Amino acid sequence: MRMYDIIEKKKHGEELSREEIFTMIGQYVSGQIPDYQISAWLMAVWFNGMSDRETFELTEAMALSGDSVDLSEFGSKSVDKHSTGGVGDKTTMIVAPIVATAGGTVAKMSGRGLGHTGGTIDKLESFPGFRTSLSPKEFTDQVRRCGLAVIGQSADLAPADKKLYALRDVTATVDSIPLIASSVMSKKLAAGSRSIVLDVKCGSGAFMRTPELAYELADTMVKIGTAHGRQTAAVITNMDIPLGHAIGNALEVCEAIEVLKGGGPDDLREVCLTLSSTMIELSLNVSSAEADALVGDALQSGRAFDKFCEWIQAQGGDVSYAKDTSRFGSAAYSTDIIADTDGYISSCNAEAIGTSAMMLGAGRQTADSVIDPRAGILLFKKPSERILCGDVIARLFTEKEQTLASASEHFRNALTFTDTPPAKQPLIYRIIRSR
Ligand code: URA
Repeated sequence: MRMYDIIEKKKHGEELSREEIFTMIGQYVSGQIPDYQISAWLMAVWFNGMSDRETFELTEAMALSGDSVDLSEFGSKSVDKHSTGGVGDKTTMIVAPIVATAGGTVAKMSGRGLGHTGGTIDKLESFPGFRTSLSPKEFTDQVRRCGLAVIGQSADLAPADKKLYALRDVTATVDSIPLIASSVMSKKLAAGSRSIVLDVKCGSGAFMRTPELAYELADTMVKIGTAHGRQTAAVITNMDIPLGHAIGNALEVCEAIEVLKGGGPDDLREVCLTLSSTMIELSLNVSSAEADALVGDALQSGRAFDKFCEWIQAQGGDVSYAKDTSRFGSAAYSTDIIADTDGYISSCNAEAIGTSAMMLGAGRQTADSVIDPRAGILLFKKPSERILCGDVIARLFTEKEQTLASASEHFRNALTFTDTPPAKQPLIYRIIRSR
């Protein structure tokens, strides 16, 4: 098999065989195929796509390229959740303790933020002492004791994806449905959970800008999971505007705690209730009405918040911050964005707002930038809310005073205004389940 012939085949839109796919991935990971040939192949896939069979086999080859986590002792109860990335997305910190309270098992690996999107691992590190790296034994011991552990992605899990993703990032080939689907699902398959719930984001802050594209990605990922024997569902959710009011690590932790205590913004609450209920339905094999009741009980009884505290403490975090969120403190500098007219916000570009939060220090410009846990944005007004001249639309927080002016300007440019209420957008577009 020559890599040249594989590129030639894909260039003409032909299907690759299982053997060609497995050999290509194996030889790429072992360094026998150079980046420039894989780059050419990636671009051919970008233009010509892949059949379902090719996408399933590419995912399998990538999942088998490194270690896999063995969660078999937890039977069918293990359940994972993945978000395709967004702004203000703090859902894992809410749904994981709800699901564990209801009896599901959440043994999860999460990512760090890059660019305009945040990462769960960075958010959890806002707790002093929180350990995001546990040995395999510590990880499973904690899952046995607490029903829940969340750690950073191991470099040994799906190493083919790590290499391919780095190359896609610099060859303008990230935004391809078979490549995104195989990238996400190879890591989910290797991470070992029997059930997988995908939160596929749609809109200005997401990879998929339209509901049609989000549906196509979600459907492909659900088919991949199902073909590999995992119960899989995808919830397509709005990411045209940030989720909730808080963007930035410690700010998001505080908002997640509000939801776990029964409050929090309606949009965030609704997305979390839907994701938790779907995870419980799949992992405990109950009806959606039973799953909804378990979620309601976990929140109303206060047990989901107790589970959150148990989890933070189990991973070495200072739980006094969860019990008294004022301990996170406030960033050294802040500024308010004030409305200079009456009306409504007609659009609130999530990507631009995420970038503004990144400029304040809440995110990474490059993989080794350092995060300021207290930097970020509190959005007081969102589209559809009436605004009066002089109202505070948002407050920006940073430890670097010199960034305030440029981040504020970026933030202002993310908003457009209108005199009449804008049409309300759906929050949850659709749920797709394994057939
Ligand atoms: N997230 C991933 O893990 N992979 C992609 O290709 C895109 C988003």
